[in-house]
Amino acid sequence: MIQAAILGYGGMGKWHHNAIREQIEGVQVQSAYDVRPEARDEARANNLTVYERAQDLIDDPTISLAIIATPNDSHKDYIIRALKAGKHVVCEKPVVLTVRDLQEVMDVSKQADALFTIHQNRRWDQDFQIVKTILDSGTVGKPYFIESRLDGSSVYLHGWRDHKLNGGGILYDWGVHLIDQALQLTNDKVTSVNAHLFSVHSKEVDDNIKVMLSFEDRLSVLIEASTNCFIPSPRWHVSGQDGTFVIQDWGCNGKIVQLADKNARRWDNDIVYTAAGPTRTMAPRPASTTMTTPLPTIKDARGNEYHRYSSADIFYHNLVASIEGKAELYVKAEEALRVMKIIELAFQSAEKQQGISCLV
Ligand SMILES: NC(=O)c1ccc[n+]([C@@H]2O[C@H](COP(=O)([O-])OP(=O)(O)OC[C@H]3O[C@@H](n4cnc5c(N)ncnc54)[C@H](O)[C@@H]3O)[C@@H](O)[C@H]2O)c1
Repeated sequence: MIQAAILGYGGMGKWHHNAIREQIEGVQVQSAYDVRPEARDEARANNLTVYERAQDLIDDPTISLAIIATPNDSHKDYIIRALKAGKHVVCEKPVVLTVRDLQEVMDVSKQADALFTIHQNRRWDQDFQIVKTILDSGTVGKPYFIESRLDGSSVYLHGWRDHKLNGGGILYDWGVHLIDQALQLTNDKVTSVNAHLFSVHSKEVDDNIKVMLSFEDRLSVLIEASTNCFIPSPRWHVSGQDGTFVIQDWGCNGKIVQLADKNARRWDNDIVYTAAGPTRTMAPRPASTTMTTPLPTIKDARGNEYHRYSSADIFYHNLVASIEGKAELYVKAEEALRVMKIIELAFQSAEKQQGISCLV
C-alpha cells in the first residue's frame, strides 16, 4: 500500500483525498498539510494526520507519495523538496510557471529515485475521449480545424487565481488543460502560436483567452477559455474533410454530420435567393447528400461507465502500476514541458500582438 500525503487541503486537495478513498486500492491518504488552520482542522475531521509544518510532511519516512494541490506558485519548491526526500510526486497543473523552472524540476527528478507526474486529468474527460474516438475512426476524414472552447460567465477569477504572484490567470488555469488536450490529438509539432489574452475585468492576469495553434500537417486548433461570455459556443466543433461534428457541452450532447457518399462531394447547386441576396456557394446542400449520426457512446479507459472519479481511477491506477514497475506513466514531464513552451509562446505572442513561429 502506497502511503500518501496531501500538500494543500483546499478544493483539489480534498478531491484527491475523496477520489483515492472511494476507489483507489493501492493508495491510502494518511496525512495532510495546509497553511490555513481551518483547512488543517478539516483534514483532521476527515481522519488525516495533520502536520504543523510542510517540512514535517517532507521528513515523514512513512510517506512515499506527495500530492501537491497548492496554488500554482508554490508547486516548484514542494516538488523539488519531495523528490529530494525520495517521495513520488503527483503535482497539480500547471506543474510550474516557466520552462526554465520545469527544466530545473526535471533535472532533480532525473536524480531522484522516485516518480514524478502531473495531474493532467482532462485527458480522460468523456467529451475529449469522444473527440479522439471520432477522429481515430476516420468518420469525418482528416481534421483541419478544431475549435475547443470553454465559455463561462463567472466574470471574476476566484481567490488566488486572480493574482499574478500566485500564477493566476485563465491561461495557466484552463489553458494548460486545453493545450494539453490539443497536443494529444496529433503526433505533429506545433509550428505557430497566435494568442489573444484579454484582461477584461482582472487587474493583474488574463481572464479570457483565444489561442490559435498551427500544426505541421496543416491542422489548426483554436483554444478559447472565457469568463465573460454570456452566449457560449459549443465545447467542441470539429471540421474534417468529409464531415463535421459538434459536442455541445460536458453532458456530451451533439452530433456528427458527414457526407452520405464520400465520392460524391460535388452536387449541382442552384443559385438561391436568401434574405441577404442570391448565393450559389452557400446554397443549402440537399439533405439526401448528408448523413447525421449521434455521437458514439463510450466507456472510460478502464472499461466502466463514466463516473465522477473516472479520471482519478485511470490516473492513479496507472501511477500505482508505474510505481510497481508494471507500466509507464501516462503523464510525463516532457509532455508538460511542451505545454509550458506553448504557454510561454502564447504570452510572447499576446505581448507582441503577432503570431510566433516555432517547432514544439
Ligand atoms: N486538475 C484539475 O482539474 C484542477 C482543478 C482545480 C484546481 N486544480 C489545481 O489545483 C491546485 C489547487 O487549486 P484549488 O482550486 O484546490 O485551490 P484552493 O484555493 O481551493 O486550495 C488551495 C489550498 O492550498 C493552501 N495553500 C496555499 N498556499 C499553500 C502553501 N504554500 N502550502 C500549503 N498549503 C497552501 C490553501 O490554504 C488552500 O487550502 C492549483 O494548482 C490548481 O491549478 C486542478
